[in-house]
Amino acid sequence: SDTPLALTPPMGWNNWAHYMCDIDEAKVVANADALVATGLAAKGYDTVTIDDCWMTKSRDADGNLVVDTDKFPHGMAWLGAYLHARKLKFGIYQDAGSLTCERYPGSGSPEGGGPDHYARDARQFASWEVDYVKMDGCNLWVPEGKTKEQAYRDAYNSVARALRDSGRDMVLSASAPAYFQQGEWGGSDWHKVIDWVGETGQLWREGRDIKVYNPAAPATSRWSSVMGNYGYNRWLGRYAGPGNWNDPDFLIAGAPGLTAAESRSQVGLWAMMAAPFILSSQVSELTPDGLAALGNTDLIALDQDPMGRQGTVVSSNATFDILVRPLANGDRAVAVLNRSGAVRDIRVPLDELGLDSCTVEAKNLWNGESRELSDTLTGTLAAHDTGVWRLTPHTGCAEAVPTGQIAG
Ligand code: DGJ
Repeated sequence: SDTPLALTPPMGWNNWAHYMCDIDEAKVVANADALVATGLAAKGYDTVTIDDCWMTKSRDADGNLVVDTDKFPHGMAWLGAYLHARKLKFGIYQDAGSLTCERYPGSGSPEGGGPDHYARDARQFASWEVDYVKMDGCNLWVPEGKTKEQAYRDAYNSVARALRDSGRDMVLSASAPAYFQQGEWGGSDWHKVIDWVGETGQLWREGRDIKVYNPAAPATSRWSSVMGNYGYNRWLGRYAGPGNWNDPDFLIAGAPGLTAAESRSQVGLWAMMAAPFILSSQVSELTPDGLAALGNTDLIALDQDPMGRQGTVVSSNATFDILVRPLANGDRAVAVLNRSGAVRDIRVPLDELGLDSCTVEAKNLWNGESRELSDTLTGTLAAHDTGVWRLTPHTGCAEAVPTGQIAG
């Protein structure tokens, strides 16, 4: 249908960064129940997506995908109904190539050519009342005479058409750019790639996976992976808007491997970037600090601001990044990231934020405290923490919003 989808960034949960292929119905149900029990579902985290490895290694005689009933004994229609009964949405994973990354049957043409399954799979998902499809991009055949980009573009156009023709509204999470843009983050090619991805999907991955949980070494590289994904996504703000979101991958705030400050930083930076808020962790085991950050309704409102403008980096150096995000009601959000491993005092002159000679009400979104500021925003940030404030300009303030991005 023509219903606009994902007018604000999708929110929910996906198993991948915690469970990877070790997924089954009981785990999905337990996490769905935990979203409800923690109150996260009511705050908007409503889309529960099953990632790779839910199917068997071959299609049935008719060409339909076959659910692995050892893992999902009641099947997918049952799971969709379970989620819908709890006011949750049902998301599922498939791949636009011939095989998923874990080598289960994908929707695309086999290597060398042959019929694809885009329409069939979309109809099957619609029959299960799926609401959201994460379309990965492994093992995509690039026919002779096409560039890699053309092959991805054609495949994702077919996916989008198949979903539309299925008769059910399903959000499309596209992985396309991640498969041919890595290493070119912030480069000029972004523009044409993201333009066409935006015509097909409502959100798209452009880069690496957030580092998955490793029980043997829970802290390894998770913070640097958050910083890495933030590092490219922060420059892509011009492509975001209602129905089109840059996806720097999952929230692992409150999951093993991040400190409380690091968890706040991920939530704060993802909110500034209007990024999808998709948890990928064991919800019942989230740390209290992580849960508080994820459930902070001011941060959620920032992420979900109806104007849908992604924040802009207005200054960046080895220690601090400062981002500004204009909001629908005329407020603007400011975030300051302390990359360093030490506690730091910050002083941000308001004129750096486009608020020349102006008095603003500044609400610290982490502790809810408001104060009046006339020329400088001050504060103290823990190592790896991100301060986030919502500034309400008093009457007479300059309207100018900084839109330019400094060079990466
Ligand atoms: C690569 C994707 O980027 C991940 O999020 C996950 O879906 C895996 N593939 C699954 O194989």
